[in-house]
Amino acid sequence: MSAIRIVSTGRALPGKVMTNDDMSKIVDTSDEWISSRTGIKQRYFCDGEMNWQLAVESARKAIEKGDIDINEIGMVIVATFSPDYAFPSVACLVQKELGLRNDIMAFDLNAACTGFLYALNVAEGILNSSGEKYALVIGSEQISTRLNMEDRNTCVLFGDGAGAAVIEKNVTANYATVMGSDGNTTALICPGQAMENQYIDMDGKKVFKFAVSTVGNVINELLEKTDKTIQDIDYVICHQANERIIKTIIKQFDCETDKFYMNMSQYGNTSAASIPIAIDEMYEKGLLAKGKTIIMVGFGAGFTWGGMLLEC
Ligand code: ACO
Repeated sequence: MSAIRIVSTGRALPGKVMTNDDMSKIVDTSDEWISSRTGIKQRYFCDGEMNWQLAVESARKAIEKGDIDINEIGMVIVATFSPDYAFPSVACLVQKELGLRNDIMAFDLNAACTGFLYALNVAEGILNSSGEKYALVIGSEQISTRLNMEDRNTCVLFGDGAGAAVIEKNVTANYATVMGSDGNTTALICPGQAMENQYIDMDGKKVFKFAVSTVGNVINELLEKTDKTIQDIDYVICHQANERIIKTIIKQFDCETDKFYMNMSQYGNTSAASIPIAIDEMYEKGLLAKGKTIIMVGFGAGFTWGGMLLEC
């Protein structure tokens, strides 16, 4: 069966750490409010760093850790909703900076917080229909430039960062994907370059409801497709938007809480970067040894959603 495997991962964060107390000096909020509503304790904001620089750093680490020959990288896909330029894409800047081959496709993909999973799915299709050995898939965001620092409803939730994965083809029955979108344009929106402002606007309660219903359905569909139960899964890695969302999802399943990995306390919501950052941390902690089975689930603006069951 056509499938993919993660070969190696990397992550990059900008230098400026913003704690909840730091945020409370900018807007009328508190560590108590943010922690209890979201689980977020701190986030990183760019302070001169560009999106593409974070993408390059995360990719370089993934390539080094996997001891990858860069001439065997057959495509670069960067999932992002916050590119530095309308064009060239972040992916082309990564290609140039890393000195990758020039007979490959390098492009960005925007599916908001689901972007990394859409990108993995696209990479799987291209890998399996080409002779290429590796794909470089990156989730990279500079969300701080899209935040209205006077809007406490949104500015405390997000952070900047990047996560990268080198992936290759795999042959296993332990693989399934579920991808979707429904065209919602009101609950979560970030205006584009021609608009008056480019700030994120969110109806938090609508997003919450969408997330808790969709993620549970995606997990169940992946389990059905592979004839597994939640007990067969070593870890579930959800998009790291909000601890309360993930805790509500955990209640829908008969399993131990730590099966669902959480790290938003350190990074906030990094959109398309949240899942690859989490995966990289998990490899570093030795949680994802060869043979482990994981589920990754993303959800985001659009509304978009995506899930992937994968063997490490
Ligand atoms: N600090 C203090 N008070 C705040 C803050 C803040 N940072 N933000 C909002 N409030 C206030 C509101 O003004 C409101 O005050 P009011 O009652 O006087 O009007 C009060 O807190 C309650 O606001 P609610 O919106 O009802 O707060 P809620 O309990 O729903 O929590 C939250 C808000 C955390 C955003 C919640 O709706 C949520 O978790 N939504 C999920 C959305 C999410 O996580 N989005 C992330 C990005 S989207 C994505 O990744 C797909």
